[in-house]
Amino acid sequence: MRLKMEGVEFSYGSNAVLRNVGLELHPSEILGILGPNGSGKTTLIRCINGILTPQQGSIALDAEEVRSLPRKDVAKNIGYVPQNSSMDSGSPNVFEVVLMGRRPHVKWEFGEKDEEIAWKAMEEMDVKEYAATEFCNLSSGQAQRALIARAIAQEAKILLLDEPTSNLDVKYQIEVMDTIHHLVHEKRIAACAIIHDLDLAMRFCDKAVLLHEGIIAAAGPTRMVLTPDNIRKVYGVEAVIDESYHRPRVLII
Ligand SMILES: Nc1ncnc2c1ncn2[C@@H]1O[C@H](COP(=O)(O)OP(=O)(O)OP(=O)(O)O)[C@@H](O)[C@H]1O
Ligand SMILES: [Mg+2]
Repeated sequence: MRLKMEGVEFSYGSNAVLRNVGLELHPSEILGILGPNGSGKTTLIRCINGILTPQQGSIALDAEEVRSLPRKDVAKNIGYVPQNSSMDSGSPNVFEVVLMGRRPHVKWEFGEKDEEIAWKAMEEMDVKEYAATEFCNLSSGQAQRALIARAIAQEAKILLLDEPTSNLDVKYQIEVMDTIHHLVHEKRIAACAIIHDLDLAMRFCDKAVLLHEGIIAAAGPTRMVLTPDNIRKVYGVEAVIDESYHRPRVLII
């Protein structure tokens, strides 16, 4: 499934947050959405999955406009892991939360196959041992992994991840991104991830969009986007790209 966004403009009231934003995402790709706090990254992702509707522009999944698709079809195709989340109601355990990812696929009740898929997703995100733990009693990092497991169980064609590694320790940052990388290639799905750690983005994203005050400052292959010049312009910090290692590394100096 291909995602294509063109000429998107979004405002909250009179506050123009996205201006003429466009991007494309293909199967087997990881796209990094980068940019400073408040640059419009979460807003962009929420437009893609139809939570917000842009005032102008087009967002299409293959040839279908997201805004004209029924919610259930959007949910079958797009998995969303929000930046901060709490459960709206009740105190579900981790297994129940992950199983909720199957909701768009079932008519009435979850079946054995749904449960199997949920267990597999929990295994992939290393949260099986918390299956019976109430979601609200997890640490932030455990909760983040449980929510990624829910998105995996959803078997969506496009994964939208809002800062998927922000609460994770160094080991899980790499493990979670490795798992996402593996899934994207094995299942030929696509992922769009908001990432603050520029070196992590350099390591895992095939391409990137760098947002600055709602405008795309740079877009393309990640190593073309993450240049010292672009980083200085957008973040106002000095960086070097270290090529002495087996992959380019972004060092903020
Ligand atoms: N629900 C809302 N109502 C009004 N303004 C909002 C709302 N959500 C975000 N904004 C404003 O829109 C702008 C972009 O916010 P957004 O959350 O998209 O930024 P972001 O790039 O995700 O930032 P961060 O890195 O801090 O998560 C900000 O100026 C913010 O104050
Ligand atoms: Mg955000």
